[in-house]
Amino acid sequence: MNRKYRKTVIAGNWKMNMLTSEVKAYADTLRASSGKVRHCEIAICAPFVMLPRLIKSFRDCRIAVGAQNVSDKDAGAYTGEVSAAQLRDLGIKYVIVGHSERRAYYGETDEIVSAKVRAALAAGLIPIVCVGETLEQRERGVTEEHISMQVKLALGGVPAEKMRRVIIAYEPIWAIGTGRTATASEANEVCSRIRAVIRSLYGARIARAVTIQYGGSMNASNAAELLSMPDVDGGLIGGASLDPEHFAAIIEAANQ
Ligand code: 13P
Repeated sequence: MNRKYRKTVIAGNWKMNMLTSEVKAYADTLRASSGKVRHCEIAICAPFVMLPRLIKSFRDCRIAVGAQNVSDKDAGAYTGEVSAAQLRDLGIKYVIVGHSERRAYYGETDEIVSAKVRAALAAGLIPIVCVGETLEQRERGVTEEHISMQVKLALGGVPAEKMRRVIIAYEPIWAIGTGRTATASEANEVCSRIRAVIRSLYGARIARAVTIQYGGSMNASNAAELLSMPDVDGGLIGGASLDPEHFAAIIEAANQ
């Protein structure tokens, strides 16, 4: 973390878990277990159908609500899609874009990811853009090239003035849901590489201000070490965000 230049953001990604009927109890426990949140921003990214209930439950506190996906189109005949304007209208602040699960299971290409980033920004949402390498790519030594390419393609068409509103999440695919976390130095190395790519595209001032999260089996025991790294500005947390007490412990680590 480097709070002098950028925000620390801790976001939970519930994926396709939880029920709307469980939201209130979760919110009550999270509020009771997390102390005063001073030094970071917190968000929960939940399935679309739960968003109104989450907004209601977190209305009076500093926990923001995010979606896990958004349409690349503005409006019209796109059955089953949800637009960025519809999310913004509900009071949503963040949206996860290009998660590896969407890229792998739902055919999201770099081109679609880039269109979604632009749609989110146009509506005033903060996109959390996910990038990450497979185990095979890491073992073959192409992590850096792969991540650089994903970042450059996702940010295509994003003007400098909008770039401060973009969050990048580095999520190595081999660390997602596996219990195998990148070491703090592995995570920092790639996050710092991502910052270098942003610097080459937008200059040093903007690169310094962009929040870059780590995601992949982050939990209450490894969060403090990961977040102590200079280029790791927060976390995108799957499994450990489903338990409000575990999530509160991660928030606490970021709040130090
Ligand atoms: P886990 O924390 O369950 O590994 O998931 C990480 C993730 O994919 C967050 O988007």
